[in-house]
Amino acid sequence: MNSLSYSQHDAILPVLRDSIGNKRFLHVLGAMHYAVVLARRYGEDIGRAATAGLLHDCGRLREVAQVEAEARRRGLELPPDERPFPKIWHALLSAEIAAHDYGITDEGILRAIRIHSTGDASMSRLDKIIFLADYIEPTRRFEGLSELRRLAEEDLDAAFRQSLENKIRHIRSQGRPVHPRALRALADLGGAV
Ligand SMILES: [Fe+2]
Ligand SMILES: [Fe+2]
Repeated sequence: MNSLSYSQHDAILPVLRDSIGNKRFLHVLGAMHYAVVLARRYGEDIGRAATAGLLHDCGRLREVAQVEAEARRRGLELPPDERPFPKIWHALLSAEIAAHDYGITDEGILRAIRIHSTGDASMSRLDKIIFLADYIEPTRRFEGLSELRRLAEEDLDAAFRQSLENKIRHIRSQGRPVHPRALRALADLGGAV
């Protein structure tokens, strides 16, 4: 299944709001909106984009410890190379919940959810749309955001590249390690890792 029915939305929205909190719930609605805007612009299926946007953070429980406990409860393995990146675990849990609780079988949607905050090599159009929708949705605030939004509506690849580079630069400026998937995404674009 690749898009949610009205009754599924009716069931999901209150659960989502409760499990991730009001602020992130607004972020998710913003990401869903932006995913639809970009899907229309770039010819992606709107239902797939809306579903991936809505569910991309459904595993972003209020505390990292809760994310880890819920992943363990579901038997979701966090591979050793994920251990240093607790902020990213929620993306893996979100894909798991989307598949098992909400019946999403479209592997393209699940992958877009799984890699929404890091990117990866061989990004699909939907992957780029969800990555960007997460990063530049209406509740975000950072310098250069309006230019980036303009670019996102002109050139999906250029906007993805710039967003990925921004994120990597930000992580490095804080002295934190960069996730291997983000480095793979950058290398795939021919960027210096
Ligand atoms: Fe996220
Ligand atoms: Fe997000």
